[in-house]
Amino acid sequence: MNLTYASYLKLDKLLMMQETQSQGSAHDETLFIIIHQCYELWFKELLHEIDFLINSLEQGDLAPALFTLRRILTIQKVLLDQMDILETMTSGQFCAFRDLLGTASGFQSAQFRELEFLLGNKRREILLSFSEDSRNRLERRFVNISLWDAFLRFLSRQGCSIPVEVLQRDLTQPIAPSEVVQGELAALYAKESNISLFCEMLLDLDERFQEWRYRHVKMVERIIGSRHGTGGSTGVEYLKKTLFSPCFPDLWAIRSNIHNP
Ligand code: HEM
Repeated sequence: MNLTYASYLKLDKLLMMQETQSQGSAHDETLFIIIHQCYELWFKELLHEIDFLINSLEQGDLAPALFTLRRILTIQKVLLDQMDILETMTSGQFCAFRDLLGTASGFQSAQFRELEFLLGNKRREILLSFSEDSRNRLERRFVNISLWDAFLRFLSRQGCSIPVEVLQRDLTQPIAPSEVVQGELAALYAKESNISLFCEMLLDLDERFQEWRYRHVKMVERIIGSRHGTGGSTGVEYLKKTLFSPCFPDLWAIRSNIHNP
């Protein structure tokens, strides 16, 4: 059979997957489903790109790593912009179908947790809330290298003095700041323009991830106020505690130590 636009993209399946719980009686539920599905597709693409980025660093190839990071940053902009679309839905419009969501919540997004793990935010308790399929994928991410560890190993192979205990750290632990690494990074900014550009782009990635959390919590506050979440948390109060946690603390710590070359 000849490949067509529809058959290549499996549109018959894709466009059947926006099944509302309200059977069409709540107009805004379609937007709610499509936005979430778009996020999940972009999360899939981000995981794909970050895996490639890690691989490029492991091969010692900075050029493809830079191009990939540029793509990741552009996707993150789209993720932020999608919040504007969701914010066109008022509290009342959401209330028309919220009860039908039961206990379903973005809190259960396995791909979001995979992203957190890839970015070094490892918490073992997260694994417990997932059933087999997702848990297997998450467990692999949990024990595997994060983007930051791949970057430090890359730097070490480039001749930077990254302490052996940092290079061989327990990968299931969250990334912890290191003063020695900070010293190396500050020195690199003074002499290695490509690597410092890479660091700046990692900082953009980190900032955009934090921005996404902020946009999400403000959107949630607009739409459900102080109500509890469908996933069982305290809602906005819980989400606010996840703000301002950097992925790459060393890159933030050196901001006051960087001087013009
Ligand atoms: C009307 C729209 C939305 C509302 C009211 C909302 C509300 C919430 C609430 C209250 C939580 C805390 C957990 C809970 O108790 O449920 C949460 C978590 C979360 N939501 Fe949303 N959300 C919305 C849209 C989205 C969208 C579009 C995404 C994109 C995938 C998303 C992703 C997440 C993620 C990943 C978490 C976990 C955050 C963490 O634990 O750090 N949410 N959401």
